Amino acid sequence: MHRTTSILPQSRGVIEHYREYLPIDKKTPIVSLGEGDTPLVYCPRLSARVGRGCQVFVKNEGVNPTGSFKDRGMTVAVSKAIERGARAIVCASTGNTSASAAAYAARAGILCIVILPAGKIASGKLMQAFAYGAKIVAIDGNFDDALRVVRELGKTRDLVVVNSINPDRIAGQKTAAFEIVDVLGDAPDFHLLPVGNAGNITAYWAGYREYNAHQRSTKLPVMVGFQAAGAAPIFYNRVVEKPETIASAIRIGNPASWKQARGAIAESRGAIDVVSDSEIATAQSWLARHEGIFVEPASAAAIAGLFKCCDSNEAAYSFQNILEASRIVCTVTGHGLKDPDPIIRQIGEMKPVAPTVDDVRRVIAL
Ligand code: F0G
Repeated sequence: MHRTTSILPQSRGVIEHYREYLPIDKKTPIVSLGEGDTPLVYCPRLSARVGRGCQVFVKNEGVNPTGSFKDRGMTVAVSKAIERGARAIVCASTGNTSASAAAYAARAGILCIVILPAGKIASGKLMQAFAYGAKIVAIDGNFDDALRVVRELGKTRDLVVVNSINPDRIAGQKTAAFEIVDVLGDAPDFHLLPVGNAGNITAYWAGYREYNAHQRSTKLPVMVGFQAAGAAPIFYNRVVEKPETIASAIRIGNPASWKQARGAIAESRGAIDVVSDSEIATAQSWLARHEGIFVEPASAAAIAGLFKCCDSNEAAYSFQNILEASRIVCTVTGHGLKDPDPIIRQIGEMKPVAPTVDDVRRVIAL
């Protein structure tokens, strides 16, 4: 019998895959776009940079349905919102949460309201929120101001906040740690990732701990988080009133999960560190050109962080005496195509040549 594609099995999505670890039961309607199951890519050149027989893997979250890790949490948050009868969802965002929330709301058939810092959202992300039909409000303020407004709006009936202050978001995001353990056969020795509002480091640590408690791993990783130097409240241990960085996704001065991030770092005997904008830009380009993985600037903070751990005497966590054959995972959180403008500016003007083999050979100097 002929079957239509709509009933063919798809990628399962994180809820179907990890249902028993999630706050889901039979009556929860599942809103999924087939998120998760992202590649854990072994990176030979990054491994060589670390040396000592260490292996570096990149967890490429940019290949989720809306191009960032937010989809893992959003499938759970929106499914639970629908279960509770929500008519609309709302979020503050530096871009990726809004893109993800807008997509899952569209899928669920409910309204999505996004509150964004005006002029500070990467163009690809703004385009996504618009394309998925979200109601977009730009505020004259930063992400922290937007989140303050959203917390107030969240008191409205039938309106559910889908920022990572919603525990369903964290529950969904912890599945990234499960996937890593499932692929490696155990937890890695180190896990490096960028930190903004600090939901993701909280989620990973919860995921590693929970899997370990279920004997799915024999150890827990050391968690090392990286903030942009101009937006590093956890590192400096004080609120940053005017955060600034090219990594607009992590341009946050007062993270909601600050305390939980501190807990993850302390319990895992890890560290929080800073990387400069120029280190971020260099790492972004390096990863694209040496490993074939193009990520947005915030994600490159994890790679810049890895370089700092290897090379710098000022690193909060040094890899200079790292145990031989350690396994290191770096999460890259969002796709490079989301933030095209800074790269496009580097291309500059391209002068066309005549359509002959000779002219083309001359340009490529072959
Ligand atoms: N990387 C990317 C690409 C992000 O979009 C974010 C956060 C982070 C890292 C940091 O994760 O906040 O859990 O510590 N983006 C949020 C947003 C704030 O609105 O899209 P975190």
